[in-house]
Amino acid sequence: MIDVSNLYYDRYGISSDKNFSKIDVSPLMNSILSRASVRKFSKKNLPQELLTLLLTAAQSAPSKSNLQQYSILVIQNKALKKEISNLIGNTKWALTAPVFLLFLADIRRNIKITNHKGYNHENNNVDTFMNGVIDAALSMQSMINASESIGLGICPISIIRNIIEEVKNLCQLPKGVFPISGLAVGWPVEKSSVSLRLPQDVVTHYNTYNEKNLINKIIKYDDRVFKVAPIEKNKQRHVDIYGVAKKGTWSENISRQLSVAERKDFKNW
Ligand SMILES: Cc1cc2nc3c(=O)[nH]c(=O)nc-3n(C[C@H](O)[C@H](O)[C@H](O)COP(=O)(O)O)c2cc1C
Repeated sequence: MIDVSNLYYDRYGISSDKNFSKIDVSPLMNSILSRASVRKFSKKNLPQELLTLLLTAAQSAPSKSNLQQYSILVIQNKALKKEISNLIGNTKWALTAPVFLLFLADIRRNIKITNHKGYNHENNNVDTFMNGVIDAALSMQSMINASESIGLGICPISIIRNIIEEVKNLCQLPKGVFPISGLAVGWPVEKSSVSLRLPQDVVTHYNTYNEKNLINKIIKYDDRVFKVAPIEKNKQRHVDIYGVAKKGTWSENISRQLSVAERKDFKNW
């Protein structure tokens, strides 16, 4: 029997007041509750049959109106992997995974289909953009769940959007197709530690949105994170602007990150 109370504690750094003893937790749920991103992969390969099944898991995700406005690009070619890894500096390790994928929002395919059927594609707005991004994100998550449930490790890679023009050219992405994230998939060399999440009463609201005691709850969360995984100097954001933080807390780091606009050109792109 899986000890859910421990899994809850590991995720939040606090115990739950609920008694989970009567809840039957499946191996998949266990894998989801205890997951952590992996950034070091063994050289062991991932057979094409397994990749095919993982891609099927990705395509099993729900999709807005079953419009299926996403594509998945598998990067297998060694030279292409090398070119991309040379462009992403410190994140090079991601391309050492046996499988590296790009999850793409894809508005293009349905434009072609709609036009082929003799209709105008008028339903093309920010909502379309959002639906494509959501479809791509859900398919990535579905693949993540399937991969992790069989012992594979993954790490999503958004830094790919820092080199979006280069990726577009290298992977020949046409208009209407853009990456939401990369995904490294492989066999983990070591077990990653579970990262503490915001307490459930900050993230979950029952019936009405509730921000009561938010800052106090964040201070306590910061303390819990700081105890197990203080944000070290080399992981702190914008040290060049703000200097090294005396206390490398979660809220200090995300505030620093959010104080500087990133990927400003993406809207035009
Ligand atoms: C859309 C997305 C993009 C991400 N991009 C990167 C990335 O470029 N580099 C990286 O090291 N981790 C990346 N991550 C992983 C997050 O840093 C990680 O999920 C987060 O720190 C929480 O840790 P955990 O996944 O181990 O729970 C990304 C995660 C998501 C969901």
